[in-house]
Amino acid sequence: MNKITINTAVPYDVVMERGLLSRAGELALGVSDQCKVCIVTDENTHRLYNDTVAESMALSGFDVYKITFPGGEMTKTIDYFSTLLEFLAENQFTRSDMLVALGGGVIGDLTGFAAASYLRGVGFIQIPTTLLAAVDASVGGKTAINLVAGKNLAGAFHQPKLVIYDPATAETLSHDIFLDGLAEAAKSGVIEDRELFEYILAADEPPFSEFVMRLVDSSVRVKAKLVEQDEHDGGVRQLLNFGHTSAHAIERLSNYDISHGHAVATGMLIASKAALVNKWSRSDCYSQIKTFLVRYGYDTECRFTPEQMAAAASVDKKRRGDTISVVIPLDIGECALMDIPASGLVDFFKAGI
Ligand SMILES: NC(=O)c1ccc[n+]([C@@H]2O[C@H](COP(=O)([O-])OP(=O)(O)OC[C@H]3O[C@@H](n4cnc5c(N)ncnc54)[C@H](O)[C@@H]3O)[C@@H](O)[C@H]2O)c1
Ligand SMILES: [Zn+2]
Repeated sequence: MNKITINTAVPYDVVMERGLLSRAGELALGVSDQCKVCIVTDENTHRLYNDTVAESMALSGFDVYKITFPGGEMTKTIDYFSTLLEFLAENQFTRSDMLVALGGGVIGDLTGFAAASYLRGVGFIQIPTTLLAAVDASVGGKTAINLVAGKNLAGAFHQPKLVIYDPATAETLSHDIFLDGLAEAAKSGVIEDRELFEYILAADEPPFSEFVMRLVDSSVRVKAKLVEQDEHDGGVRQLLNFGHTSAHAIERLSNYDISHGHAVATGMLIASKAALVNKWSRSDCYSQIKTFLVRYGYDTECRFTPEQMAAAASVDKKRRGDTISVVIPLDIGECALMDIPASGLVDFFKAGI
């Protein structure tokens, strides 16, 4: 079994191997006594994987409760958050009980925030089932729900006790949802791991499970390195936002029709082109990132004008006062944070689009 330890204030492991869903109970006993567990799923992960995980938890002596929400981003709302908290209270969950997030980033973020808030904090386990959640959302302890005014506007830092990944879950993902996660994995490569990026570019149809394990293993190592240095996101952790200033603008402008990972792919292309045009990067990262987009069939055109993008990006969370932090690739495997004035955003997008 592959294991990566995340050395945050309270360290925890990310374990990954095919078949781990049916060993969830045994693995949970490594981080918790037998207790009540609430398995949180959306309708898809409930249908596909809840029986396996629930049976395993029950066999290991946990008292299993289940709650299932609709699938998709609309589930990260204050209404479902409150439904989950009330469910825990009605069933008399205590501080020694635990939540289990079995799903993609939506379920992980919602469950994590409920675990951070209920009784001022109970333990939780992440069992990511999308590639995006495995390479990114399930690790690092950021939890959140959306408000009407925008995405992830309420949340907390709350690290899981354990992350369990079974690469077999990638086999039921649609191609588009798989590509969401692949974009975040490629992002990890551009930020910090040139070999990973080159592996993704050159991969010649390796066995699917092997490909997925490599993406998750390498991306989690990149994320661990940055999160360990900056758990609360005040410095180097922000490098993980490469491509995200544009991505959030694209998501918002498309009314969330363009999904996060696809928007990140376009966002990486925009940031690398702006860096090339402005001579901020040492090498032509733009061409290599474009090759990645073309090879895997992402959209290489941005549908929005520089002016629209700048207006949408200027309300970004990464804005502090009159400056906005963007991540610039210096080379594949090395990025830097750069503050640009909000008034310079249009020029940034003119260079990048
Ligand atoms: N906390 C963080 O650090 C962090 C990082 C990145 C993204 N996020 C958040 O993650 C969310 C996006 O996550 P996502 O892309 O996983 O979306 P998601 O959770 O909505 O999952 C996408 C779809 O895939 C389905 N699904 C999940 N696993 C499946 C499987 N194995 N087989 C078939 N279908 C499956 C889901 O039901 C859903 O319909 C966003 O809300 C984003 O803000 C959080
Ligand atoms: Zn992202």
